[in-house]
Amino acid sequence: MENHGNRIRSVVILGGGTAGWMTAAYLGKALEGTADVTVLEAPSIPRIGVGEATIPNLQKVFFDFLGVGEEEWMRECNASFKMGIRFINWRTDGRGRPEPRPLPGGGDDSFYHTFGLLPDHDQVPLSHYWYNDFHHGRTDEPFDYACFPEPAVMDAKKSPRWSDGTPSTRYAWHFDAQLVADFLCRLATERLGVRRVADEMTEVVTDERGFVEALRTKGGERIDGDLFIDCSGFRGLLINKAMAEPFIDMSDHLLCDSAVATALPYDDQSEGIEPYTSAIAMSSGWTWKIPMLGRFGTGYVYSSRFSSQDEATEEFCRMWNLDPEQQPLNHIRFRVGRNRRAWVKNVVSVGLSSCFLEPLESTGIYFITAALYQLAKHFPDRSFNEALIDGFNREIEVMFDDCRDFVQTHFYFAPRADTDFWKANKELTLADSIREKIAAYQAGLPVNPPITDESTYYGNFEAEFRNFWTNGSYYCMFAGLGFLPDAPLPSLAHRPRSVEAAEPLFDEVRKRRQHLLETLPSTYEYLCRLHKR
Ligand code: TRP
Repeated sequence: MENHGNRIRSVVILGGGTAGWMTAAYLGKALEGTADVTVLEAPSIPRIGVGEATIPNLQKVFFDFLGVGEEEWMRECNASFKMGIRFINWRTDGRGRPEPRPLPGGGDDSFYHTFGLLPDHDQVPLSHYWYNDFHHGRTDEPFDYACFPEPAVMDAKKSPRWSDGTPSTRYAWHFDAQLVADFLCRLATERLGVRRVADEMTEVVTDERGFVEALRTKGGERIDGDLFIDCSGFRGLLINKAMAEPFIDMSDHLLCDSAVATALPYDDQSEGIEPYTSAIAMSSGWTWKIPMLGRFGTGYVYSSRFSSQDEATEEFCRMWNLDPEQQPLNHIRFRVGRNRRAWVKNVVSVGLSSCFLEPLESTGIYFITAALYQLAKHFPDRSFNEALIDGFNREIEVMFDDCRDFVQTHFYFAPRADTDFWKANKELTLADSIREKIAAYQAGLPVNPPITDESTYYGNFEAEFRNFWTNGSYYCMFAGLGFLPDAPLPSLAHRPRSVEAAEPLFDEVRKRRQHLLETLPSTYEYLCRLHKR
């Protein structure tokens, strides 16, 4: 007989927002009924989730794991498609001022960070052939349009899936986070044996070692557990309050700390639905636009050091033509950074209680799924072996800091310098690890190893974790912002045959683009059918 005498018997999740219900469903499934899972959700505490944008691995690492098909959850959550992010006005102030640096392609101030994959030729990514051509004046097509078919498809507001459901490219989703939490709550309680306690926590009971023993509630219940998951949001009630773990503030890397958000109706029958997130640069930050069927979510993420709440609200309302007196607005204040340790003793933080980064690259839900994957991998028994805890904490640390650094480069390399906010971003210090990557980029080298096999990379946390921002991501952002290498990859000067043989790949992109534009339905059409409107 195996001895499981020391195994975790019960897991208690504090908080029923997106993180809480994602955790409940995931653990309900992962633990195969070997431990009780309880969610303590205070009905009176509002959820912070607004319109959310995700990344493609969500289906594979989360919903497939739960056995939930894409169409099923999409219908429940008013989900729409997202093929990438469109960055608008990051180079100029949007009023057609002269560009500070010459830009590939010129034209309007927008570019895409797409989910499409960059092909390789002779073990060199296509980005490097593009830059070689651009540098020598052989092309003036911008990087994103030259190397990917997706930007033109996004411009045309086409669906990433053909009418019969076949996907044409990698894509992710936009959805209403409230609906996702509700859907996962039903799934967890009805199908996965999770217990839901609708009550407010009043006290954390700890033992002599400082481990959490139980949570007491207003209704007089005492919920005992072996392992506690903190999904209480920015307040970090277990990890920061009860465990007193310090939160490392990273406002020396990222200046935005506030947002004003709302949802707006949209005439998508005549306008169409954009299959991408927009990130529109503003005077002291940027505004997200997350289209869904019938409405879009939007919010101005700004720095309170450079803009007061009233000023930000005014600028935001002016941009969408809203009356600040009439429009319901959600004012959010957030902390940027992560806990020194995400897991302390028998408390694991997941979601906003663990770490937070402004939503510029749609990392919020990814951080939750990654933490759940790592928790299942490092799942403890009641001896709480430190090696498991340390291993988990290291993974979260590297994941978060790497994403923080990548997001910081967007502000750092944005040519805009028209306000104090944009100027201040250029004065901030970049971490050493990202400076090494930037040095490689400037020398003309690929920033990260190529993805040779999509199926073993995406949705495979072991591989994706280590190379999350691919070379294609760096090129989309850096070249999009007008920050180009000092010189093309030097070895290409000695490989004229390789350079010549890469040319047909650009023709392939053009042909594919034409084919997609001619055969894909509109996003509006596709979603109307999916949601049976
Ligand atoms: N590996 C991630 C992906 O392609 C990188 C990523 C995160 C990304 N957020 C993004 C790519 C936004 C494009 C746009 O899924």
